[in-house]
Amino acid sequence: MQIEGISAIVTGGASGLGYATAARLIAGGARVALLDLPGQRLDQAADTLGALAAGCDVADPEAVTAALDQAVSAHGVPRIAVSCAGIVTGGRIVGRDGPADLDSFERTIRVNLIGTFNVMRLAAHRMTTLDPVNEDGERGVIVNTASIAAFEGQIGQAAYAASKGGVAALSLPAAREFAQHGIRVAAIAPGLFHTPMMDGLPEDVQQSLAAGIPFPKRLGKADEFAATVQHIIENTMINGACLRVDGAIRLEPK
Ligand SMILES: NC(=O)c1ccc[n+]([C@@H]2O[C@H](COP(=O)([O-])OP(=O)(O)OC[C@H]3O[C@@H](n4cnc5c(N)ncnc54)[C@H](O)[C@@H]3O)[C@@H](O)[C@H]2O)c1
Repeated sequence: MQIEGISAIVTGGASGLGYATAARLIAGGARVALLDLPGQRLDQAADTLGALAAGCDVADPEAVTAALDQAVSAHGVPRIAVSCAGIVTGGRIVGRDGPADLDSFERTIRVNLIGTFNVMRLAAHRMTTLDPVNEDGERGVIVNTASIAAFEGQIGQAAYAASKGGVAALSLPAAREFAQHGIRVAAIAPGLFHTPMMDGLPEDVQQSLAAGIPFPKRLGKADEFAATVQHIIENTMINGACLRVDGAIRLEPK
């Protein structure tokens, strides 16, 4: 699908991979709404990018419905929905102080998995009402963000890995279901990328993480993630997949 002139939403668009994706889509001529937690950071990102700020918690059904309404009024029904909103949590299943806190596990699943599903279901429902845009009968594209932790979760990443495993597993059943509507679904499993999340780590830790990447020996750039999103949108044959973008790294147990 061509990006030029199309309405798009990007969750987590106020920071990191989502911000870079929104910037790339806007550079390609899309009209973009950023769905992120309401606040100054979101407003600033939207101002800088020339995007619409649609504040919401991605796991909240009413808030995402209202954010989509905003996007529709400003730009028309989105044909592109990219989910980048996510949180990273850590902790052993059985730690020094006993079993893991169930609330923390639930919160991780709620934001990363339920939030992704919530946005996908509400955005796809609206996409089904649109006319196809090309001879393939394509109506829309959904791109979700998993993680390589979905496949090689490290010790302490049980909640995060489970949430991202869920995101990776959603692609195929969703793509199969939405095929009748000409809506594609794919996920990206990033390796280690430079984002505010990563930049929070000390320089030596970042270097040692980068050293574990076979090639290139550096963290990924957010725009390299965004370029993958763009390619998925433009390449109609990519559907139902989860693509690793990771410089061939495979995470060790710890
Ligand atoms: N950076 C990496 O190396 C890396 C690797 C693998 C996967 N990922 C995944 O990529 C995605 C983006 O990560 P990032 O590094 O850009 O992180 P980031 O922290 O820079 O950005 C995440 C954004 O999501 C938003 N967000 C969090 N909870 C939300 C909620 N409930 N509702 C709405 N918005 C919410 C945050 O406000 C933030 O703007 C995440 O899903 C992350 O798990 C990142």
